[in-house]
Amino acid sequence: MLTKVIFASCLVFWINYFAVILAEDPNMTRALELMSEVPLIDGHNDLPWQFRKKFNNELNKVDLHTLETTHTNIPKIKQGRLGAQFWSAYVPCETQDKDAVRQTLEQIDVVHRMCQKYPETFMFATSSKDIMDAFSMNKTASLIGVEGGHSIDSSLGTLRMMYQLGVRYLTLTHSCNTPWADNWLVDTGSEPSQHNGLSPFGKQLIVEMNRLGMLIDLAHVTVTVMNQVLDMSEAPVIFSHSSAYSICPHKRNVPDDVLRRVNETRGIVMVNFYNDYVTCSKTAKLKDVADHFDHIKKVAGASIIGFGGDYDGVTRVPEGLEDVSKVPGLVAELLRRGWTDEEVKAALGNNLLRVLAEVEKVRDSLKAKTPDDVPIPYDEVKNPCRTSIGYANTGDLHSLSTLVILLAAALQACVTA
Ligand SMILES: *[C@@H]1O[C@H](CO)[C@@H](O)[C@H](O)[C@H]1NC(C)=O
Ligand SMILES: *[C@@H]1O[C@H](CO)[C@@H](O)[C@H](O)[C@H]1NC(C)=O
Ligand SMILES: *[C@@H]1O[C@H](CO)[C@@H](O)[C@H](O)[C@H]1NC(C)=O
Ligand SMILES: [Zn+2]
Repeated sequence: MLTKVIFASCLVFWINYFAVILAEDPNMTRALELMSEVPLIDGHNDLPWQFRKKFNNELNKVDLHTLETTHTNIPKIKQGRLGAQFWSAYVPCETQDKDAVRQTLEQIDVVHRMCQKYPETFMFATSSKDIMDAFSMNKTASLIGVEGGHSIDSSLGTLRMMYQLGVRYLTLTHSCNTPWADNWLVDTGSEPSQHNGLSPFGKQLIVEMNRLGMLIDLAHVTVTVMNQVLDMSEAPVIFSHSSAYSICPHKRNVPDDVLRRVNETRGIVMVNFYNDYVTCSKTAKLKDVADHFDHIKKVAGASIIGFGGDYDGVTRVPEGLEDVSKVPGLVAELLRRGWTDEEVKAALGNNLLRVLAEVEKVRDSLKAKTPDDVPIPYDEVKNPCRTSIGYANTGDLHSLSTLVILLAAALQACVTA
């Protein structure tokens, strides 16, 4: 009996003790205050991929209030104070040259349907203004990023239509080369380089993305592609879910010289929480993620940092960052490490808002420019699932105009002769 009483009072004591710690951690209190002033904007979440994998996109069968098998659900979103999310419209590389476009459209559709199904929680968003409007209504601004250039099937028309459907970033590659860009696996040596970075069509695409107002995402590409895009893009770039190479030398991470260039060009690196990219091992802790934040701040400044958790896209996440509800703990850790309020607010959302606003400004400044309608050369995309319709005609036209030029030259020769 006595032991029971002692046990019970000990339990009460410990529960109270921890409640006091939680309530009175001044850094956590401050973190939550800052998160009520500036939206936490996360660069990459694969919940739509979980809808595909677990439910074949039958969202009617899903209750996002109670779904427990994912990193992301509505109670976790509320607890984590998720202000805005780029939901990933990801389809695997095995769809390349097959049904990638259809599958990507279905992922875009499932994000739209999620927003329609839970209008109290989500607001579909496509601009920096939308993000702030959603935040003021206490809703999670929901943007779309397409993860992997294979999703546009080497077609600028498809890119433009995806923009019209609300897509606001394109990750140039996933973990496979496209017919116009090399992916990070080339840097590991496990895949050969096909383009030494970007092909001429890849460069056309960058110019067109600037014109459209589509964010260029350099997560997943080779360092050569990173530098080529930094050389030529008129607008700042993003890394939607990448960490610091100096802390964990994984080729998915960003080397210091690129971090510095991102600062020079006013872009953003949104830190990935995947254990394998955080510690280069299977395990990691919240403090290890904070080390990436500290390092990027030291090398390139707090104005290029953001959050890119990669929740529901990875299988191993750090202790202390188990799901989207835990992010305030990381914000508190940054305060504990001496980050100023302004630095924390920059990382939370102000940096991404600046980048998005700048991309919108570049788009507006290029309004008079005509869309690029020069297709990728047929030889570069020839495969059994692709017809050459259209190419044949332009080919005929080309030979026709060549003929005209030749005739004219011959005529001229006759006249002068
Ligand atoms: C915003 O959402 C939080 C979390 O659900 C809630 O506690 C708060 O009352 C809401 N505020 C407004 C203004 O709706
Ligand atoms: C970032 O770039 C700005 C110029 O845009 C420069 O003033 C600043 O020193 C840079 N920060 C770091 C840490 O290099
Ligand atoms: C909060 O962080 C500051 C450093 O900014 C530190 O001095 C203080 O001890 C921290 N408080 C707690 C409860 O961790
Ligand atoms: Zn990824």
